[in-house]
Amino acid sequence: MRRFKLALFVIATAAALLPAQLQLQPRNGDAIYGLSTAQLARFEAGRTVFNTPLLVNQGLGPCFNQQSCGGCHGIPAIGGAGTIEVTRYGITGVGAIPFNPMASLGGSLLQEQSTNPACLETVPATATVVINRLTNSTFGMGLVQAIPDAVLLFNALNPPAGVSGIAHMVGAFEDPVGAPLHVGRFGWKAQVATALTFSADASLMEMGMTNRFLLTENAPNGNLVLLAQWDTVPDPEDGPDAQGFHRIDRMADFQRFSAAPPQTPRSGMAGEVLFNTIGCASCHVASFTSGTVAEAALSNITIRPYSDFLLHDMGSLGDGIVQGAGTEFEMRTPSLWGMRARPALLHDGRATGLDFGGNVDLAVQDHFGEAAASRAAWIALSQAQKDVLVNFLDSLGRAEFDYDGDNDADMVDWFYMRIGFTGPVGNLTPEDANSRCDVDQDGDLDIVDFINLQRAFTGQ
Ligand code: HEC
Ligand code: HEC
Repeated sequence: MRRFKLALFVIATAAALLPAQLQLQPRNGDAIYGLSTAQLARFEAGRTVFNTPLLVNQGLGPCFNQQSCGGCHGIPAIGGAGTIEVTRYGITGVGAIPFNPMASLGGSLLQEQSTNPACLETVPATATVVINRLTNSTFGMGLVQAIPDAVLLFNALNPPAGVSGIAHMVGAFEDPVGAPLHVGRFGWKAQVATALTFSADASLMEMGMTNRFLLTENAPNGNLVLLAQWDTVPDPEDGPDAQGFHRIDRMADFQRFSAAPPQTPRSGMAGEVLFNTIGCASCHVASFTSGTVAEAALSNITIRPYSDFLLHDMGSLGDGIVQGAGTEFEMRTPSLWGMRARPALLHDGRATGLDFGGNVDLAVQDHFGEAAASRAAWIALSQAQKDVLVNFLDSLGRAEFDYDGDNDADMVDWFYMRIGFTGPVGNLTPEDANSRCDVDQDGDLDIVDFINLQRAFTGQ
């Protein structure tokens, strides 16, 4: 007993002598650090609206895909990615005849549910292209939105050798008339530039909720008679709550104030060197710094999305849909920071069924067009080199202490840390799994790391 007390005393004294506590990274789904109390309250109110099913008398339908944003965006936390795919269709352009999104027949997005069986949409038989698109993550959207257009445009105009990304210039609903266009950065075709525009668009397209920007309901497969019969709530169906926020404002708050996903270890992985060497970083650009925007917490923050947010000609990987200036073959480079939590990769989730490394391999095998040289360099790697590269990709979106990678810091992670404990001398490299718990990245698992684990502990 005395010995135990002595040990406690030694630990407590050692803790008191330690340097200042480390700033732990926010976890997936957390708010950005440094928000004011009022902003944090808006983040939380926004998450509730994002995740609360919309009811028919609030404007759901008549055709829709899910009742809430969170119904699709939930991996590994509310706002994240998802396994639900939506269907898009159209008629492929031939010669001088452009792609036809079949808008008069309810295209190009299929709504797979309806408030009444009569309104259920089907893909018109005349469609020649029908594809699926997977749900991508909304984390860190405010920070991505805050990257100055000029920075993305500079990269588009000064591309690395062998690639030629295109900035997809789009308007934002909330802009005044005549305002300059922005570089679109959200969606698989970089078709949207801001969280508020995406929220308004997805509210109508995925849930059937008209709002102050989009006043016209989608008619089921274009059928206006059915629409008149089954759409009973006056437009706009969205409107202000007691504090004056519309639902779409609440959704946008949640997305804008959500933190960028963590990266653990934060840097120094050998796989990143390989990733750069074989040209992946030509499109999957490691980092950007946000510009100065209205909120201090979103301004001048460096994020590591591993995307250039530009459109690239991906050859046969292109999904055949034209959206704005995004053509059949072009796809936006997706951020890689939400990827490890997803069981399926690429826009239609075709890279699936294997473990994370296997799915990454499938995804890269399908990189054609501008990415062909990089794909060839990947294929030429030895399996050991691929493993090193995948180990790096597996650090993107991983929270500190999350040894087993399930987005918490719980007893299981503690268990691994305990058996890996080295004390203040160690020679861990970022490649070692135990370095996930070496938060101060000094090559050991010691009391400093242990104290920080206590702070990070979430339970299950
Ligand atoms: C039926 C499933 C579904 C629902 C419901 C849904 N989404 Fe999505 N979300 C998707 C899919 C699929 C994509 C990819 C869209 C694309 O580019 O074609 C996406 C993409 C996004 C993106 C782009 C993220 C990025 O970085 O590219 C945002 C933002 C977003 N959704 C917000 C919302 C909001 C807000 C709502 C609620 C109003 C919502 N979503 C409802 C499936 C859904
Ligand atoms: C020319 C630009 C370009 C290069 C070079 C490139 N990528 Fe990509 N990458 C993309 C685009 C665009 C997509 C989305 C394609 C799609 O789903 O249709 C993508 C998707 C991915 C995905 C799936 C992400 C997700 O969210 O599903 C992975 C994994 C990936 N890339 C890894 C790599 C690796 C590893 C390399 C280097 C060998 C690489 N990429 C090189 C542009 C590029």
